[in-house]
Amino acid sequence: MDKKIGARLQGARLAMLLTAALAAQAAGATGTAPHLESRDGRTALFVDGAPFLILGAQANNSSNYPAVLPQVWPALDDMHANTLEIPVAWEQIEPVEGRFDFSYVDTLLAQAREHGKRLVLLWFGTWKNTSPSYAPEWVKFDNKRFPRMVDRDGKASYCLSPFGEQTLAADRKAFVALMTHLAQVDGTRHTVIMMQVENEVGTYGLVRDFGAKAQAAFERPVPAEVLARQPAPVRRAASGTWREVYGDYADEYFHAWAIASYIEQVAGAGRKVLDLPMYVNNALRDAVEPLAPWKSNFASGGPTYDVIGIYKAAAPHIDIVGPDLYNAASAQIDATLARFQRPDNPLWVPEMSQAAGYGRIVYEVLGRGALGIAPFGIDYTTYSNFPLGAKEAARPALVEPFAATYAVFGSMNSLWARWALEGRTHGVAEGDDRKERTIALGGWTATVSFQEWQFGEKSWPGYTTEVPPGTEKPSGGVAIAQIGPDEFVITGQHARVRIAATQAMSADHGAMYARVEEGRFDAAGHWVMQRNWNGDQTDYGLNLTASPVILKVRMGRY
Ligand code: DGJ
Repeated sequence: MDKKIGARLQGARLAMLLTAALAAQAAGATGTAPHLESRDGRTALFVDGAPFLILGAQANNSSNYPAVLPQVWPALDDMHANTLEIPVAWEQIEPVEGRFDFSYVDTLLAQAREHGKRLVLLWFGTWKNTSPSYAPEWVKFDNKRFPRMVDRDGKASYCLSPFGEQTLAADRKAFVALMTHLAQVDGTRHTVIMMQVENEVGTYGLVRDFGAKAQAAFERPVPAEVLARQPAPVRRAASGTWREVYGDYADEYFHAWAIASYIEQVAGAGRKVLDLPMYVNNALRDAVEPLAPWKSNFASGGPTYDVIGIYKAAAPHIDIVGPDLYNAASAQIDATLARFQRPDNPLWVPEMSQAAGYGRIVYEVLGRGALGIAPFGIDYTTYSNFPLGAKEAARPALVEPFAATYAVFGSMNSLWARWALEGRTHGVAEGDDRKERTIALGGWTATVSFQEWQFGEKSWPGYTTEVPPGTEKPSGGVAIAQIGPDEFVITGQHARVRIAATQAMSADHGAMYARVEEGRFDAAGHWVMQRNWNGDQTDYGLNLTASPVILKVRMGRY
């Protein structure tokens, strides 16, 4: 059979299995509510009692209306996504103060169930990309009741103050109304599996609020729980005012505490009525350059990597601070993922560019044991957020970088999430330097190289200098789960994987493949072998092409 057709057929089979499993789950969900479980510093999301990998997709900002949803679901289907992230805007559920309208939410839930998708709802309230743009008009144009931040000269910022008591009360009331409605219509169905509270908070152009209430709080001692969790970048006083403890970082750290405390009030009140996992997302600061005080180079007060401790201290009802990945430099991506993945902060990538180069990042993120990932701008409204995202926003180009990868992970969704919880998974993405990467496994080392043909060695005299189609730009990624001492599940794209014993063996002893089975996991999680790779298919490493497959590899020693 033609190779491409074979790969497509396999993709289609995987997609059918995935859709059937999801539909069954979504049809009659029972059991425990979606929740996080942690072991040894690792965390998994449990949905209907089983670990669940979020193969997500976030719709465009203005796709949160019933009329647009028909352009959303086909994109998720084409992508083999199991979860839709989509806004619920304060302005749409409470356009008139005190009068709530959940008709959009009801349509969304009904259609998500029909399409076999889970939902992560994005609460666009007081802050959306720091602005009150999604607050109702009765909030965003009433500075007296809902004050804006002010600078040192008393000049108003565009951003609402986290010290606005009425703002907090109104946002909290609307969010609680939403959670109350969800408890009524989805409390036992579990279509909604997680909530994002606000969106990319912080403030551009002003380091903190200098209004009277804010200033009084700034001059008070740093709360003990913040001292316990947030070290000062430059060690000064162990306790005291924000300035005394955090020096040049005092203003931005104080602002992070103020916003996190506000979000805590909203999230905590919401969880009292429906206890779903909740998170915040972050428009990143540079993760590579040496840490330095804010100089208008990122949104001050947002949950950047350096203030995760403040968010943990001030917002215990927020489980996760997640990074939004839009800087394609591989050094930034590697450093960001490392900084956000901590024992007290599970890795979850709530947003990522949907540009082609980001397809490979899925392997790195899921290999690191993340709860999931969600490329942004996935729907067929043909809106392109280039240059942040893809230029081509039409079907099928938009979802192509992710579809085959999602189909593969979808076919072993719960297995992978459990392996991640057990610390068995690893992942790499090809770097901008195109250099090979190594993965330390128990007793074995995997070496991953890129821009390799399936046959032969670059070191051969006269070997071709051509590169395989699709590898002109960094495109490779590999994820490996070590499921036994000598056994591995491997998937990836545009990469060559070699596995060698970590400890060198004596001259007459060595290691070689016992089996390299290509196959799939069935709905019950049992392995179904399709063929055993040998000869040309293993002599030059395990070569993964543009069409990812699943390999179950067992190594042997002689
Ligand atoms: C990140 C934001 O969180 C999204 O809502 C969106 O505005 C993208 N940036 C850019 O398209």
